[in-house]
Amino acid sequence: MTQGNHIALEGAAQRRREERRVTEEELLARIDAAPYGEKSKALARKAVRYESLGGASWGLFPVAPIIERGEGSLLYDADGTEYIDMLSGFSVSNLGNCFPAVTEAIRAQAGKLTHFFDLDHPERIRLAERLSKLSGISGKTKVLFGTTGSDAVESAVRAARYYTGRPYILVANGDYHGVTAGTIGLTTRATIRAGYLDGNQSGSVGFFGFPHEYRAGLAENCGFGMEALDALDRSLGGNFTPYGGAGNVNVAAILVEPFQSSNGYYIPPRAYLKELRRICDTYGVLLILDEVQTGLGRTGKLWAYQHSDIEPDIITSSKTLGGGLPLSAVIAKAEILSAWGPTAHINTQAANAISCAASHAVLDAITAPDFLPEVNKRGDYFAAGLAKLAETHPSIGYIDHQGLYIGLEFVLDRERKTPAPNLLQDIRISALRKGLILDSAGHYDNRLPLIPALNIPYEIIDRTLAIFDEVLSEAEQKAG
Ligand SMILES: Cc1ncc(COP(=O)(O)O)c(C=O)c1O
Repeated sequence: MTQGNHIALEGAAQRRREERRVTEEELLARIDAAPYGEKSKALARKAVRYESLGGASWGLFPVAPIIERGEGSLLYDADGTEYIDMLSGFSVSNLGNCFPAVTEAIRAQAGKLTHFFDLDHPERIRLAERLSKLSGISGKTKVLFGTTGSDAVESAVRAARYYTGRPYILVANGDYHGVTAGTIGLTTRATIRAGYLDGNQSGSVGFFGFPHEYRAGLAENCGFGMEALDALDRSLGGNFTPYGGAGNVNVAAILVEPFQSSNGYYIPPRAYLKELRRICDTYGVLLILDEVQTGLGRTGKLWAYQHSDIEPDIITSSKTLGGGLPLSAVIAKAEILSAWGPTAHINTQAANAISCAASHAVLDAITAPDFLPEVNKRGDYFAAGLAKLAETHPSIGYIDHQGLYIGLEFVLDRERKTPAPNLLQDIRISALRKGLILDSAGHYDNRLPLIPALNIPYEIIDRTLAIFDEVLSEAEQKAG
């Protein structure tokens, strides 16, 4: 296994946590100096006073804009300043903000039935049928509803352990599966894992290396190549503990993101999922694919796993599934979700009727014949623009791209691939000043995930590329 690599990365994350610690006084001083209007600043001060500092926004920017309104790929802050949305609520709003058909479905359902505690209603039953048929898993499939991505992951893990009678779940290093008490032990995204791990929350969880072409083969990055899966195979074969021994595998499931999203939009080699499927089949282990962020069109196919010519046993889905409202689903082979009896799993807020109605509108849009081909066209157009920028901006070390799933890696020099986290922070902060909202992530904090709406207009892609060109020049000049 790749614990050495894991521990080295944890050290870096630990340092980042220390850097991120901030007092209310420091935040108030940042707000005074921030380039926002007075309404936004007054709201930001209130947020410091009344909201937990543990939310995402203070980790994203020195002071994040307060978003009051959204329309398609554009957002407006409390003072009416416009921003290009290159985040889409981390892929929650994949059809753009306030997509008309989704808004209409929400309005119509709100006048009919808001919610009914975990009992069936027509929208929910129709949605279960629809997701089963769209899952791409052959044979009979079933659905278990929830509210959030973490909730779906917890349910999938519970179902896998119940069905197999085994305790262990193996996850890829760098994956993000949530930060609830039940999922934090499964999450190893570099900036989360070490930073916020309190106590031993990884009981019955094991880790293996995530392969990525750009970093594979570098001595200090062992675990980024496909050889990590050989170690996993040997481990399950009984040469290592604690995953059982020959003939006594105690692993219920391998749980992975098909592409590693929150950690920075890394796309693994095509062989990754194929090899995991082979290992699962060899040792009778279930394969759970967490498609919470990659699913429903982001990668140019309905599910990211469909790029790999395999089938999972269980899929988790959320984020854009509810069209901006809380909704999640576990979609699995029927025998897995039928193993337990009535009331084995209860969630009073699951499958809210309005969320389900919104979900039907989302699925109508995504399954329309032209939708995915258009996602691929826009993704190729965006990636071609970025590749052109890379010709004159040496800090762009690598571009991952599939559909509108795009991740950029920033380096100080291309030959040695030295990560450039500070340069990326400069890029993001200048971009925000010019009206472009960008996230950052990565094993080395040097990854820029681009997460536009799947129907982003070409004109907004062009505007994004133009801002990018400017901010890259400025940041590269500063870095020398
Ligand atoms: C792949 C993946 N799984 C699970 C989650 C957790 O989802 P939520 O924040 O809705 O609980 C996320 C959130 O970013 C995710 O990207």
